[in-house]
Amino acid sequence: MDLTVDIAGVKFPSCFMNASGALCVTREELLVLGRSHAGAIVTKSMTIEARQGNPGPRYYGFPGGSINSMGLPNLGYKAYAELIPELKGFGKPVIASIAGLCEDDFPTIAQAINDAKPDLIEVNLSCPNIPGKPQIGYDADASERLMKRVRKIITVPMGVKLPPYFDPAHHKLMGDVIGRCGVDFLNLINSVGNGLVVDPETETVVIKPKGGFGGLGGTIIKPVALANVRAFWKYFNGKMPIIGTGGVMSGVDAFEHFLCGASAVQIGTVLVEKGVQVFTRLEQELAGCLEKKGYKSVVECRGKLKEL
Ligand code: DHB
Repeated sequence: MDLTVDIAGVKFPSCFMNASGALCVTREELLVLGRSHAGAIVTKSMTIEARQGNPGPRYYGFPGGSINSMGLPNLGYKAYAELIPELKGFGKPVIASIAGLCEDDFPTIAQAINDAKPDLIEVNLSCPNIPGKPQIGYDADASERLMKRVRKIITVPMGVKLPPYFDPAHHKLMGDVIGRCGVDFLNLINSVGNGLVVDPETETVVIKPKGGFGGLGGTIIKPVALANVRAFWKYFNGKMPIIGTGGVMSGVDAFEHFLCGASAVQIGTVLVEKGVQVFTRLEQELAGCLEKKGYKSVVECRGKLKEL
């Protein structure tokens, strides 16, 4: 079964890769991804300065998914810029995820990282976990300003990682903005921000930062992710490459994302829970699923969701 895909003209040996944040902070973690079956190496979202992140516990897995408030622990953009040539040696695309604590951080990071020549750059407009900093992706004007600024700097394919939207009016608003900014691909969705998980036994929250509020991932967010992939796929008439992220725990979950219009999928919660060995299981499950349904490649099923 052919599970190779193409995003914005870049070839991926497999349609599965890590979601930014999952096992991709340190050099060692990134090298492990390089040696694994992951179809790309996605870095942790990087900031100007290295960060330890929020105090722990800051990730909690439960049967339906996960909640996290990591607080952008990362090595700082200069360290990732130096690592990119080594990571490219694995012969699969390197996606650098760039973030910032304020708008002016993004162009600085974009310039240095673009100079290091990753295969693609993902601009993260949707980190929900920095106390006092709202997600840029929920401010359409700020998003437009930022995307236009980094677009002038970035010469490799540029994508944006968006938060989930819950109203068709917001899909249209952001679709219009993205259409004006020269964006090459979308990554949908970041974690569902500021959920709260309660342990009734201990009568406590389960993570420490922000009074227990954090970004939700895993199975419970899959319908939200699929809706966002579908909404933007339709908005752009199937012409905007989309990486589907959210609730991919199995090959069948990935198949659902492809039907909705994803070109590739990223895994967060299941990668954190199971480790990089999970990539081979997901490939096998997806291949089996596609074969059973009579598809000869993953590309063939893209966007084929039927409506009633
Ligand atoms: C973090 C979480 C995110 O969802 C994100 O997009 C960036 C950073 C974090 O808490 O580290």
